[in-house]
Amino acid sequence: METATVSRNGTPWVLAFYRSALGKKAVMAATGIMLFGFVFVHMVGNLKLYLGADAINHYGRFLREIGYPLLPHEGALWIARVVLLGAVALHITSAIQVWLMAKESRPEAYTRKDVAIATYASRTMRWGGLIVLAFILFHLADLTLGRTGNAFVEGDVYANVISSFSRPPVAIFYIIANLMLGLHLYHGLWSMFQSLGWNNPRFNSWRNEFAAAFAVVITIGNISFPISVMLGLVK
Ligand code: HEM
Repeated sequence: METATVSRNGTPWVLAFYRSALGKKAVMAATGIMLFGFVFVHMVGNLKLYLGADAINHYGRFLREIGYPLLPHEGALWIARVVLLGAVALHITSAIQVWLMAKESRPEAYTRKDVAIATYASRTMRWGGLIVLAFILFHLADLTLGRTGNAFVEGDVYANVISSFSRPPVAIFYIIANLMLGLHLYHGLWSMFQSLGWNNPRFNSWRNEFAAAFAVVITIGNISFPISVMLGLVK
């Protein structure tokens, strides 16, 4: 007998939903919000760079000890890492699957202008997403593992950031990648509102402004760090 948790062909309801384009967009939206939250909190935390070495190094130690002694040292940090990694993996997998599904169901080449704009936005999302992914891999090697040739000292977050951004090509790469991330966040938020069906002429300009404002705040914060080090404002 069919139950509410099983679809008509016997597939569990959650799996059937995940296999649909709508389900994948919901996964992209949910993981996107988590990643968005992380990027925002990470940027705000990094502002401690402007308060000096003690402030940001103390903050780095605090992050490692959250939950201790209930959890082991770095326990909460590792939980956050696993959750973030899972969110990134699901976000990318669903993005590729939605893209493939759209490609398969597309009847003919597009001619209309609005569709061309949508294609431009999704192309930016794909390329931007790839650059952001490359950035995250470099960033982990750079400031978490200290494997990019910088003078890395475990726990000295302040000195590590300065040593990293004192290399102009690295600082410029951070700036470009974070500008791409800003575009990605803007388009991502905007299209998430679209997928959620918040597409009412009364809210559309508000929705656009909200997505833009959030993306701009995060981008300005993030690019200010390499710029400040290059200008010698943080040393
Ligand atoms: C210019 C902007 C940024 C600066 C200055 C910065 C700085 C740092 C520093 C210093 C660490 C090491 C913290 C520690 O060891 O205590 C770190 C870790 C990390 N950052 Fe960033 N970050 C920036 C942008 C970003 C962005 C845009 C993302 C994601 C899209 C990101 C993702 C991460 C991740 C995932 C970690 C590893 C956390 C961990 O597992 O310990 N960062 N960042």
